[in-house]
Amino acid sequence: MGFYSQDLLEEIRSRSDIVDVISGYVRLQKKGSNYVGVCPFHNDRNPSMSVNQPRQIYHCFSCGAGGDVYKFVMEYENLTFPEAVKVLADRAGVELPEQEFSKEARQQADLKAQIMEMNRLAAKYYYYTLRQPAGKTGLDYLLGRQLSQETIRKFGLGYADKYSTSLYQYLKSKGYSDQLLKESGLMQVDEKRGMYDKFWNRVIFPIMDIHNRVIGFGGRVMGDGKPKYLNSPETRVFDKSRNLYGLNLARLSRKPNIILCEGYMDVIAMHQAGFSQAVASLGTAFTAQQSVILKRYTGEVLLTYDSDEAGVRAALRAIPILKEAGLAAKIINMEPYKDPDEFIKAEGAENFQKRIDEAESSFFFELRMLERQYDFREPESKTAFFRALSEKLLEFEQGIERNNYIEAAAAKYHLTGEQLKRMVDQTGERLGGLQRTPAPANPSASRKKKTEDGGLRSQRLLITWMSSGERMLRNICRYVEPEEFTDPLCRRVAELLAEQQALGRLNPAALFQQFTEEEEQQKVSAMFHGTIPDLSGREEEERALQETILRVKQGSIRWQTEHMDPNNAEMLRKIVQRRREIEKLHISLD
Ligand code: UTP
Ligand code: MN
Repeated sequence: MGFYSQDLLEEIRSRSDIVDVISGYVRLQKKGSNYVGVCPFHNDRNPSMSVNQPRQIYHCFSCGAGGDVYKFVMEYENLTFPEAVKVLADRAGVELPEQEFSKEARQQADLKAQIMEMNRLAAKYYYYTLRQPAGKTGLDYLLGRQLSQETIRKFGLGYADKYSTSLYQYLKSKGYSDQLLKESGLMQVDEKRGMYDKFWNRVIFPIMDIHNRVIGFGGRVMGDGKPKYLNSPETRVFDKSRNLYGLNLARLSRKPNIILCEGYMDVIAMHQAGFSQAVASLGTAFTAQQSVILKRYTGEVLLTYDSDEAGVRAALRAIPILKEAGLAAKIINMEPYKDPDEFIKAEGAENFQKRIDEAESSFFFELRMLERQYDFREPESKTAFFRALSEKLLEFEQGIERNNYIEAAAAKYHLTGEQLKRMVDQTGERLGGLQRTPAPANPSASRKKKTEDGGLRSQRLLITWMSSGERMLRNICRYVEPEEFTDPLCRRVAELLAEQQALGRLNPAALFQQFTEEEEQQKVSAMFHGTIPDLSGREEEERALQETILRVKQGSIRWQTEHMDPNNAEMLRKIVQRRREIEKLHISLD
């Protein structure tokens, strides 16, 4: 961004109707005032993506993907912004001015983009080196691990040669400063040696984000040296808790589940064997953010952690995290092999598929691990086990779900459902009802949370309204100031919409360029695709709008009251005045 003028970008946009463009990739059907289609950004068969022609934006209600026409092309074709501009300009027959990537322009591009670019260059450099005579050791190692040329290419594997400043010199020759190189995570600095490559004499695994941008690297020794793997540190572009190795490919695999494992080599071996839905967490424990990301693409996660103690512990930790995100979890048994890579090498893809089909649900896996702690020949220990089992069953909400699990567990331990149910109820009573319906620690806090959520909902709804048409926007701007939105993102969007209204042209799609974070873009596209209550007639419209505006204003006053300095008399006076004003508020639409 920043290379083309806003006017030019708008010119291209106005000639690239979003429905036309997306129709070139995805079959769209008209439904009401919107178009719907199967979302290409997650695994789905149902039409959960909605394309809004008046606003020129798209949004997927299932995975959250969304944005304007540029964003769609970037995501679908895995392009950078300038590349997407070029594609759309060509399509629309708009001529682009010659671009000059001057030094100044490059310096202006932000740090993130520069680190991404360094990563990309480094990945290319490693990839190239692997194919040179100097890279033979690396290539032999990878081929020796039974990776095909095709797999090596697909994962962009590379090689860092045995000199410790090769990459440093290469990137220096491209004009990068030591300061930037330090930020990239590709270099190491020490007093004696100065700056040198983090990776040398290792095979290289580039780590990509879901848009195929290189965000970091892993490097493996080609033998038994230590440490076995080195990984890039976290940088401005590399957040280990929010990325998964292989997700860029797995998310497009169109498989009914995602396989989660521990290692780079496991992911690669599974993909090579046709299990293209495999991903790995990045040498760290599986996180809640990762589970939320996976939920965008699937409903079920199969765990193939190593079959040693550490692997079991890791699986037991991951299960509740997955459940919390609403994902079903199953565990693949790899015995007698250590990991998927070794299993597939020894038994092949067909047998691995069998293990997938036989995967154990997380509940039974947890039970088996629980069993191990008790001795069933000892009556006391056995009783203690059933007590622990009952406690586990109490974790399920009462109702069909809990009863189903009670039935299943009873069958497993040769009890009747009635017997086990009684045990569970007794345990519940013993734990004092508290366990069954955990009372909020602080009831007023939970009520407060509710009004806050409600407030956010009203703010988002009002944004939906504001973006629905120029007349509506003009009307709303007469009654509400952007500062009255307490949610920072809503406030930004309201400010931008108000600016557009002042300039006399509503253009929701154009506003996406103001947001660089994926998460923000998704939230904004969701707001623009919110449903406005079906209203007939101006009177109803006025009443509904009045209510929403009132809620937003009340929320803003509440926020001010909570955050003000109690000794500030002037502020207090203002708040009282605002309260009076909203009592008199009467919305009338023109
Ligand atoms: P493993 O030790 O299970 O290795 O580590 P692996 O994946 O089976 O690798 P191969 O088959 O021996 O080549 C699993 C993951 O833990 C991280 C890496 O991400 C690795 O893929 N790890 C392991 C490190 O970051 N550093 C290490 O020294 C070892
Ligand atoms: Mn392995």
